[in-house]
Amino acid sequence: MSDFILRLQSAVTDVVIKTHPFAEIIYWGPHLSHFSSQDAACLTRPVANGRLDVDSPVTLMAELGHGLFGAPGIEGHRQGLDASPIFTTIKVEQNEQNLTIFSEDKHAGLRLCSEIQLDSSGVLNVRHGLTNLREQPWQVDRFAVTLPVAERAREVMAFHGRWIREFQPHRLILEHDSFVLENRRGRTSHEHFPAMITGSQTFSEMQGEVWGVHLGWSGNHRLRAEVKTDGRRYLQAEALYLPGEIALAEGETLWTPNLYGSYSAQGLNGMSQQFHRYLREQIIHFPDNKPRPVHLNTWEGIYFDHDPQYIMQMADEAAQLGVERFIIDDGWFKGRNDDWAALGDWYLDEKKYPNGLMPVIEHVKSLGMEFGIWVEPEMINPDSDLYRSHPDWVLAMPGYETLTGRHQYVLNLNIPQVFDYLLERMSWLLGEHLVDYVKWDMNRELVQPGYNGKAAADAQTRQFYRLLDTLVARFPHIEFESCASGGGRIDYEVLKRSHRFWASDNNDALERNIIQRGMSYFFPPEVMGSHIGNRYCHATFRQHSITFRGLTALFGHMGLEIDPVSADQQEREGYRKYTALHKQWRDVIHHGVQWRVDMPDATTLAHGVVSQDKCQAIFLVSQLAMPDYSLMAPLRISGLEPSARYQLTLLDHPNIQITGEGGHTMRKLPEWMTTSQTVSGEWLQQAGLSLPILDPESAILIGLQRV
Ligand code: DGJ
Repeated sequence: MSDFILRLQSAVTDVVIKTHPFAEIIYWGPHLSHFSSQDAACLTRPVANGRLDVDSPVTLMAELGHGLFGAPGIEGHRQGLDASPIFTTIKVEQNEQNLTIFSEDKHAGLRLCSEIQLDSSGVLNVRHGLTNLREQPWQVDRFAVTLPVAERAREVMAFHGRWIREFQPHRLILEHDSFVLENRRGRTSHEHFPAMITGSQTFSEMQGEVWGVHLGWSGNHRLRAEVKTDGRRYLQAEALYLPGEIALAEGETLWTPNLYGSYSAQGLNGMSQQFHRYLREQIIHFPDNKPRPVHLNTWEGIYFDHDPQYIMQMADEAAQLGVERFIIDDGWFKGRNDDWAALGDWYLDEKKYPNGLMPVIEHVKSLGMEFGIWVEPEMINPDSDLYRSHPDWVLAMPGYETLTGRHQYVLNLNIPQVFDYLLERMSWLLGEHLVDYVKWDMNRELVQPGYNGKAAADAQTRQFYRLLDTLVARFPHIEFESCASGGGRIDYEVLKRSHRFWASDNNDALERNIIQRGMSYFFPPEVMGSHIGNRYCHATFRQHSITFRGLTALFGHMGLEIDPVSADQQEREGYRKYTALHKQWRDVIHHGVQWRVDMPDATTLAHGVVSQDKCQAIFLVSQLAMPDYSLMAPLRISGLEPSARYQLTLLDHPNIQITGEGGHTMRKLPEWMTTSQTVSGEWLQQAGLSLPILDPESAILIGLQRV
């Protein structure tokens, strides 16, 4: 048996796979320093009474035919036949940490190619390709990637959300059956971020074992955590197909999306750090290595009210504030005066811009800033010239009323003329103007997505990738932001062809603390768009100090979502201050190792970044609501060099004076805040440092410099 046991290894994680007669992952856990393939023999399972007389493996393809009795990895048929495939391994290729397993079911006429890669970051990346070997089409109902996890992984964490409330975590103890997350919204969605984390009970940011997975796919999906009646557990993820959506013709291959997995014995931090490293090394491709420029986006400043003179004034003010990239949002194209009309008509509104866009762009550039522009290519308003000439270009099911969302329909990208029209219009915009950056929006979900009367959500997603890929190849210097009413299209597959995510339309600092933390489990700060919004948040009508807004926006790809012309002096000072502070620390924030800190009081959120060389660190403590206790617990800072000493600096804080204005929380400040102090990395990790008592909706920023 040991001949058929293979191992993929990284410094933190190993995966052991039995390859014959059928492939099975028998171990996914901590790195093994003394591994021998013979060891696997002692994991051979007994056969229990009262069930099948043979062992039932959870195979790589999780076929039901092995007696799985749980959710299988594949479901489909050829007009009712060939519906119960079992794959037998025919060939195995291993190239260092990449394993490819070819298997076949001769009875069903199907071939499988499974690619398993364990990256040096510790991230496992798995996908399967299914090929139909017969003339008659094979109807694919389900096709998933299944990863077994240890029996001790009893707790599950996933994310729910909605527009202006993305990445909200929830947890449950799963003892039996399954927990399923399904998305039929046609985009990655705010509601069902395609990820699931399972771990030892009460795993936390800093402690416990976790196995986290993310499905890299921007369409419909299903994720599942399953507990078999024998106690074994697995995670499963797939693109979700609508009825009749996928039928494989002879010789045709369907690939699952990539499922990315990260195991950590150091709680959620270890999982995230591996994902971040993987993205930085394998997926994120910035056109060049320059620092992420600070944005000013016009949306919440002027909405549809575009006047080039005023916009140039905004650009002047933005440059004064230290902004490095100026983006004109929605409202620049013909007839776009509100969100009822004009999507699809990608021609400049010459009433608003009688001299064209170029004078504005040149003005922006003359101020030393890059120029960006907003588009929403996949959409069409019924009130548009495009719809009036091509009502048949809509992605819809014939015979049914097509529902609008934000007064718009979706264009059917599967129609070649639609694809070509969008490519031509986008190429005009990007090729004939000095555009450095595109905010690519997508504000409607897919309802009854149809092409030639058949479901076409999957095909639409693939065409979206093709359109974006073509533009990225044509304009390699341009960066793209993935936005879908805020954070509705955030995933690893779209990140292969984009450079930033608009995390949320909610710039309320209080809400952003939760949203950004949720996003940080899977994404590093440099791709997370985080803007300082107006004092009165447009999404919640709550009001926050510039300190709280500025500090909250600091830990992402920062920007401003305001009108700098009409802002008062105090606000402007704040924008300038936090832009400068971000630039001062951005190298650490965008390249360092991120840590979220376990705090005993759930109303306190603390997180930070330690530079790769462990010489610098920056930590933020945000108090979201009234503290539970009258003293804050010490802040324990991980990731520093234990033997090194660090100088502590209070980089920013709200008004916490002891007497006078605002001084009601403390009689005496923690000593390190008033005297110069150094402290060892070990002490900070094990004991921590005292925190001042903070008011709700305020934050302090602490800097550490190795001495
Ligand atoms: C939704 C986006 O999330 C906003 O940031 C903004 O770009 C609007 N669309 C424009 O219509």
